[in-house]
Amino acid sequence: MPVPRERDTGRAGTPTRPLGADGTAELVDTHGRTARDLRVSLTDRCNLRCTYCMPAEGLEWLPTELSLTDEEVIRLITIAVTRLGIRQVRFTGGEPLLRKSLEDIIAATTALRTDEGEKVATALTTNGLGLPRRLPGLTKAGLDRVNISLDTLDRARYAELTRRDRLPDVLEAIDAAVAAGLHPVKVNSVIMPGVNEADIVPLATYCLERGAQLRFIEQMPLGPREKWQRGAMVTAEEILAQLRTAFELTPAEEPRGSAPAAVWDARGVDKRELAGSIGVIASVTRPFCGDCDRTRLTTDGAIRTCLFSRSETSLRELIRGGASDEELAQVWAGAMWGKLPGHGIDDPGFLQPDRPMSAIGG
Ligand code: 5AD
Ligand code: SF4
Repeated sequence: MPVPRERDTGRAGTPTRPLGADGTAELVDTHGRTARDLRVSLTDRCNLRCTYCMPAEGLEWLPTELSLTDEEVIRLITIAVTRLGIRQVRFTGGEPLLRKSLEDIIAATTALRTDEGEKVATALTTNGLGLPRRLPGLTKAGLDRVNISLDTLDRARYAELTRRDRLPDVLEAIDAAVAAGLHPVKVNSVIMPGVNEADIVPLATYCLERGAQLRFIEQMPLGPREKWQRGAMVTAEEILAQLRTAFELTPAEEPRGSAPAAVWDARGVDKRELAGSIGVIASVTRPFCGDCDRTRLTTDGAIRTCLFSRSETSLRELIRGGASDEELAQVWAGAMWGKLPGHGIDDPGFLQPDRPMSAIGG
């Protein structure tokens, strides 16, 4: 069967690694990386309208018939885990809680075993709205961890930033996740110039007080084009400088590996009892593409090897055309083989991906 590959790789004719005799392979690329972490976007819809992600009126949502069914998503996750060496699955969106069958998809994933007989680690990236009442079902399904997005603690600013007055719901979600024992609960914050720099220290204090791990993520060029300028973005260095006004920071012991966050042990300068860890993800100023271990599946069934890919490999028509598990695994491995070395944000010819972040998955 011909193997579709990414169009922008310039590698047409490069042989892909064939599957082994047992129909399995690792997801390796030509730059020596192996994907172990699968990010699955379960919907492109969202109940917030973060200004850096979406216009007020929302986006043109994918029609249902183009989205993968539960059965199709579960089949592809199963192939990734049992044939392609994936060990961790993170569910994203849009807002993944909007997928009613999320618990079923997670339960089907946690029932899988890797080729080494291990349970698959599962995680969820969510804006937190409605999380408390879903937590019992999610933990029963075997969910291991959550990342909750929160960019400010100021109610008016939250309402402005997300265009919805829902800050209390998110704070409740963080407490509920901590109480449910989904340790460590991670909180994701994107800091934007002139918008929420004043929130850096309050967010850190708030999370340390609750035993949640805050992770600042440098804003990437993925949303509305006027919302990101390389020269104006708030860098990891600037975030650290702000943090140092209130906390002593020392690099955490654990090795960073393929995890994107540089983790710091923080202790309050004045409030000595306030201690814990804070992560800073310098995706733009200190890219970690060389250590990337991710592969992505979009709601409509496309494999993307990077958030910033300019092309992708659709598996949906193959599935619907009756492809076997082995064929799907082969195409996925072929797509991975063409993974580009980096996101190229700093290249003069950099172009944003055509899909918005909400349709790729964070
Ligand atoms: N840059 C960095 N992070 C972003 N997110 C959404 N858009 C961007 C962007 N342009 C974050 C959200 C959420 C996660 C899914 O990705 O805040 O935490
Ligand atoms: Fe929704 Fe996340 Fe986009 Fe905000 S950033 S609108 S929470 S998908």
